[in-house]
Amino acid sequence: MPFFFFFVLASLAARVSAIYSLQTRTGALPYFLFLSNGNRTVAVNDGVLVGDDNSTLSLVSTDGYGSIANNITSGSVIASMHSPTVAKIEVNTSSTFTGARFAINKDERIFGVWEYPWHGGLDNHNVSFDLKGVGNATGINWSNARAPFFLSSYGYGVYADTLNMGSYDFSSATHAQFTFNSSNLVYYIILPQGGTSNFKSILSQYTDLSARIEMPPYSAYGPTFWSDDCEQDFHGNVSNAQENYYDVVDHLYHDKIHATAMFADRPYGTGNKSYGNLDFDPKFYPNPQGFIVNITNWGYDFQVWVANRAFQNTKLYHIGKQNQWLFPGIDPDQFLGPAMDLTIRDAYAWMKEALTTFTALGVKGFKIDRGEEGEMPDYAQNIQMSLFEKLTYELMVEKWGTGNFYNFARSVVDRSRRHTGVWNGDAHADWTGLKYSVASGIRAGLLGFSMWGSDTGGYNRNSPPYDLSEELWARWMWFSTFSPVYEIMVGTGHTPWYPPYTSNLVQILKKTTGMHHAFGPFIRSYTHRATIDGVPLMRALLLEAPQDPKGYKIADQYFFGQELMVAPIVTAGGRRAVYFPTGERYLDYFNKTTIYEGGSAINVHHEVDSVPAYVLPGAIIPKGDIYQGNNNWTQEWKPSLEIELFPSFEVPKSQFRYFNGKTEVNITMTTSPAFGNVDVEWGDLGANGEIVLYSKAGAALASIEGGRAGSATFNGVESLFGHVGNVTAHVNAHAKFVE
Ligand SMILES: *[C@@H]1O[C@H](CO)[C@@H](O)[C@H](O)[C@H]1NC(C)=O
Ligand SMILES: *[C@@H]1O[C@H](CO)[C@@H](O)[C@H](O)[C@H]1NC(C)=O
Ligand SMILES: *[C@@H]1O[C@H](CO)[C@@H](O)[C@H](O)[C@H]1NC(C)=O
Ligand SMILES: *[C@@H]1O[C@H](CO)[C@@H](O)[C@H](O)[C@H]1NC(C)=O
Ligand SMILES: *[C@@H]1O[C@H](CO)[C@@H](O)[C@H](O)[C@H]1NC(C)=O
Ligand SMILES: *[C@@H]1O[C@H](CO)[C@@H](O)[C@H](O)[C@H]1NC(C)=O
Ligand SMILES: *[C@@H]1O[C@H](CO)[C@@H](O)[C@H](O)[C@H]1NC(C)=O
Ligand SMILES: *[C@@H]1O[C@H](CO)[C@@H](O)[C@H](O)[C@H]1NC(C)=O
Ligand SMILES: *[C@@H]1O[C@H](CO)[C@@H](O)[C@H](O)[C@H]1NC(C)=O
Ligand SMILES: *[C@@H]1O[C@H](CO)[C@@H](O)[C@H](O)[C@H]1NC(C)=O
Ligand SMILES: *[C@@H]1O[C@H](CO)[C@@H](O)[C@H](O)[C@H]1NC(C)=O
Ligand SMILES: *[C@@H]1O[C@H](CO)[C@@H](O)[C@H](O)[C@H]1NC(C)=O
Repeated sequence: MPFFFFFVLASLAARVSAIYSLQTRTGALPYFLFLSNGNRTVAVNDGVLVGDDNSTLSLVSTDGYGSIANNITSGSVIASMHSPTVAKIEVNTSSTFTGARFAINKDERIFGVWEYPWHGGLDNHNVSFDLKGVGNATGINWSNARAPFFLSSYGYGVYADTLNMGSYDFSSATHAQFTFNSSNLVYYIILPQGGTSNFKSILSQYTDLSARIEMPPYSAYGPTFWSDDCEQDFHGNVSNAQENYYDVVDHLYHDKIHATAMFADRPYGTGNKSYGNLDFDPKFYPNPQGFIVNITNWGYDFQVWVANRAFQNTKLYHIGKQNQWLFPGIDPDQFLGPAMDLTIRDAYAWMKEALTTFTALGVKGFKIDRGEEGEMPDYAQNIQMSLFEKLTYELMVEKWGTGNFYNFARSVVDRSRRHTGVWNGDAHADWTGLKYSVASGIRAGLLGFSMWGSDTGGYNRNSPPYDLSEELWARWMWFSTFSPVYEIMVGTGHTPWYPPYTSNLVQILKKTTGMHHAFGPFIRSYTHRATIDGVPLMRALLLEAPQDPKGYKIADQYFFGQELMVAPIVTAGGRRAVYFPTGERYLDYFNKTTIYEGGSAINVHHEVDSVPAYVLPGAIIPKGDIYQGNNNWTQEWKPSLEIELFPSFEVPKSQFRYFNGKTEVNITMTTSPAFGNVDVEWGDLGANGEIVLYSKAGAALASIEGGRAGSATFNGVESLFGHVGNVTAHVNAHAKFVE
C-alpha cells in the first residue's frame, strides 16, 4: 500500500479568507487538487496529463514540492491561489502535450469552449473536438468563436491561458479534460464570488484574465445591410455595384427604414476569385473613393471583406511567395490558397500596410473571414487568427482612433475579444439554421463575446435544400431585433422589396429594424458594461436565474440584459413553449397585461409581426432615437430618449447603469407601496426625452433634460405586476398622464 498524505498548503488556506481552500494530495501519487468552500467540494482537478502524442496521455505524479515524480516526464506542477477565488496551476514538463482533467458528476453540465452549438445544445455533453474552427456542420457552417474556457453548472470555470492548439473532451461520464500542444501550460480554476452559483462573477473573472471586448461605435449595432454579391442582381437602372448599394439606400430612405452601416462582401475586388489585389474592381466600382464618400455622407459606416489567404496570381500570392511568407504545402490553385504566416514580422508589417489601402478610402471596419478553411495547418489557427485580428485592429485604430470602427470575424479566439466582434458564420437558411443561430448567440455570450450577430435570414440561401421563405426571414428579423448586432444580407434573389417577397415582409423589416434601433440606448449600455465586467448582453438563462437548473438546458430562450427574456420563434407556424425560470415574475412585454409566474411554462402562438418577449418586475429600459444613421427623412433630427419603467412594489429599488456615450450614470427607481409612490432619479442622460412609466392606468410621462441630472415622482401607481399599491391614480407636478 503506497504511502500518501493530504498536504494542505497552509499559506494558501490563510489567503483565501476561509471561502475556498485548495488542497493537493502528494507523495509520488497522481497529482490531485480540490477546491472546497467549506460546505462542499466545488472543483476536483484529479489529474495533470502529459504525452508525446495527444492520444496516449499519462497522469503525472508529484512529490511534496510540486516536482513531477514520474519516469515519463520531468518538470513541475505548481498550484497557488491567484486571488481569493482563483487558483492558478502552472505545469512545466518535458513532454510535447500537456493538459488536465476534472472529475465531473452525473448531473453536471459543462458550457463553453465553442460558439458552435453541438447537437443544438447549450452544453457540451458528449462532445470531443479541437479548439479550432468547426466547418461543414448542422445548422451553421463555420460558427467559430472559441475559447480555452469552460463553465461548470457546479459553479466553477476553468481557463487555460494559451493560444496553442488544443482539444477538449467531454465524452466521458466521469471526466472533462483538455490537452494542448505545448510542454508548458498555465490554467486557472475560477470560483464564484458572492454566492455559490454566481456564474456572472466567473465570466467576469475569466474575461479579466483573458480579454474583454472594447467599445464599438454606435453604427456597429446596425441595422447593417449588405449583399453577398453586389456585382449581380441589378434592378431598375442599376448597372454596377455602386448603384446597387444606392438602390438599397433609396429603398431604405423611401420606406424610412433605419440603418447604420453597409459592407462589401467578396466579390468586390480584382484578382483571382475577386480578392487578393487589395482593390476595388473598376468594372463594378468605377469610383470607389467617391462611392464611399457618398455612402458615408448618407449616414452609413462602410466596411469591406478581408481574409488572410493568397490565391494564385494575386498581389498577396506574389508578395507572399517571393518572401517565403506563405504556409508551405497548400495548393494555391485550390479555392482558398495559402495564408501568410503572420508570426513572421515582415509579413505582419507588410499585410498591415497593404490593408491601409482600404482605410485611406474611408473604410471603417473589416469583415474578417476564414482562417480555418485549410489555408494553414490547423495547429496554427489560434495564433494566426489572433495576429490577423490584431493587425486589422491596429491599422483601424491608427486611422480612426479607438472605438470609431467596427471589425467583426467568424474565427475568433478569446484573446482577440478586444480586437473584433463576432458574426456566427454561414448559417443555413432553414429553421435549423435559425434555431442553431439562437443557440450559438447564447453560447458566444457564455464565452464573453458580447458583440455578436447572425446573418438575418441565413447565409446558405441559394442552393437547395435552402429556401428562405418569407416566414423564416420574418422570424429571423425578430431574433436579430433582440441580438446585439442586427445585420441582414440582401441581394441575389433575396431582397425584401423585390419578388418573390411581399410588402408584408418589408413592413416586418421596418418594424424590427425600427425596434432594434429604438433599443440602441439599452444595447449600448450593456455593451459598455461588458467592456467592464465581461458579462454579455445576450444571456443564457443560467446567468440570470442560476437557482433554476431547468433553465440550464434551454438553448432557444435568453435574457436580454437582466430586464427582458426573449423566446424567438424558431419553427414554422409560430408556436413554441416558453419556460419561465423560478424566482421572478414575467410580464408580456408587448401587450403589457399578462403575468406569468416563475416555474411555469406556457405554449404561445405569435403571428410574424411579433416575438415572445417578457419584462421583469422593476425593469428600467432605456430606449430612444439617439443615432441618426441614414435618417434624413426627419427634419431637424435631434436625439431623444424614452426610458421605460415597469415598477413593481415587490421590488423596492432597481437600477440601470446607463452609458450616455461618455460615461456611465445611474437611473434608480424606488417604490413605496403605502401610497403607490414611485420615485426615479437619473444622472446626465446626454439627451432630452421622456420617462415613461407603465402602470394599470396606462403610460405616465415625465420629461428628461439632457446635460443634467433629474428626478420624478409618480403617486398612486397601480403596478402592472399587481398585488400592492391600489390607490387612485394621479401623478405629481413633474409628470402627466397621456392615456
Ligand atoms: C455553508 O452553508 C451554510 C449553511 O447552509 C451557509 O450559511 C454558508 O453561507 C455556506 N458557506 C458557503 C461558503 O457557501
Ligand atoms: C515507468 O515506470 C513504470 C512502473 O514503475 C513501468 O512499468 C514503466 O515501464 C516505466 N516507463 C518507462 C517509459 O520507463
Ligand atoms: C519551465 O521549463 C523551462 C525549460 O523547459 C524552463 O526554462 C523554465 O524555467 C521552467 N519554468 C518553471 C516555472 O519551472
Ligand atoms: C456519445 O457519442 C458517441 C459517439 O460519438 C455515441 O456512440 C454515444 O451514444 C453518445 N452517448 C450519448 C450518451 O449521447
Ligand atoms: C458536409 O456534411 C454533409 C453532411 O454531413 C456531407 O454529406 C457533405 O459531404 C459535407 N461536405 C463537405 C464539403 O465536407
Ligand atoms: C455548408 O454546409 C452544407 C450542408 O451542411 C454543405 O452542403 C456545404 O458544402 C457546406 N459549405 C462549406 C463551405 O463547407
Ligand atoms: C492530435 O493529434 C492528431 C493526430 O496527430 C492531430 O490531427 C490533432 O490535430 C491533434 N490535436 C491537437 C489538439 O493537437
Ligand atoms: C435623403 O436621402 C435620400 C436618399 O439618399 C435622397 O434621395 C434625399 O434627397 C435626401 N433627403 C434630404 C432631405 O436630404
Ligand atoms: C454621389 O452621389 C451623387 C448624388 O448625391 C451623385 O451625383 C454622384 O455621382 C455620386 N458619386 C459616385 C462616385 O457615385
Ligand atoms: C397578451 O398576450 C397573451 C399571450 O399571447 C394572451 O394570452 C393575452 O390574451 C394577450 N392579452 C391582450 C390584452 O392582448
Ligand atoms: C451607480 O450605482 C452603482 C451601484 O449599483 C455604483 O457602484 C456606481 O458608482 C454608481 N454610478 C454613479 C455614476 O453614481
Ligand atoms: C383597486 O382600485 C380600484 C379603483 O381604482 C377598485 O375598483 C378596486 O376595487 C381596488 N381593488 C382593491 C383590491 O382594493
